[in-house]
Amino acid sequence: MENHMIRQQLQTPYQNRVAMRVYQDKKIPQEDIDTILDAAWLSPSSIGLEGWRFVLLENTAVKEAIKAVSWGAKSQLETASHFILLIAEKNARYDSQSVYDSLVRRGITDPDAIESRLKQYQIFQESDIGIADDEQRLWDWTAKKTYIALGNMMLSAALLGIDSCPIEGFPYNKVNHILAEYQVIDLEKEGIATMLALGYRREDPKHARNRKARDKVISTFE
Ligand SMILES: Cc1cc2nc3c(=O)[nH]c(=O)nc-3n(C[C@H](O)[C@H](O)[C@H](O)COP(=O)(O)O)c2cc1C
Repeated sequence: MENHMIRQQLQTPYQNRVAMRVYQDKKIPQEDIDTILDAAWLSPSSIGLEGWRFVLLENTAVKEAIKAVSWGAKSQLETASHFILLIAEKNARYDSQSVYDSLVRRGITDPDAIESRLKQYQIFQESDIGIADDEQRLWDWTAKKTYIALGNMMLSAALLGIDSCPIEGFPYNKVNHILAEYQVIDLEKEGIATMLALGYRREDPKHARNRKARDKVISTFE
């Protein structure tokens, strides 16, 4: 397909995507859900860590428990066709098993090469971004990457004519404990970063979508 056609095609999801809070009673086909999840799975992450998991939440009891405490997810949990939890890994320090595994996964197996990479990651985490000795900052670092997957899923959904709503309007501590109680996550190792509702809009938004002027947020510095 020619680029000018792709550019045109992309404008539709850019323009049509809005945060959708209430959905029709209509299921998204499994192939579309699989494609949206592929977008998350294949998203990039810093140092190729993939310090995340994406859980399609289909358990009514867990949904109800989250709904009871979440101000930003009530109507979405009630009406969305599908609901995805974006889970981020804890303590992904340069000397963790998970960082080591990410190197091996990418074909770096020579012990000297591994040592040199880990040294580089140590400098990166200790002095460049200064997170190595702070559990909260280490978690924030992996959690930030889940938003790349979140964006890719929302765009993929919009391209497929599917509405969505990203969600972080919930008490993290409480939701983490609910998820741990139901054994959706291992609280020692991971925590909820954000959530995503998917479905088909019941009606168009009542208000026009307003953005800052394009030239206020996009510029060229020569
Ligand atoms: C990371 C993130 C978290 C959000 N959390 C919630 C939420 O908890 N509940 C909700 O109804 N909307 C939520 N939103 C939707 C925003 O309010 C919405 O995207 C924003 O107002 C812009 O509107 P638009 O998406 O329709 O263009 C969230 C959006 C983002 C990007």
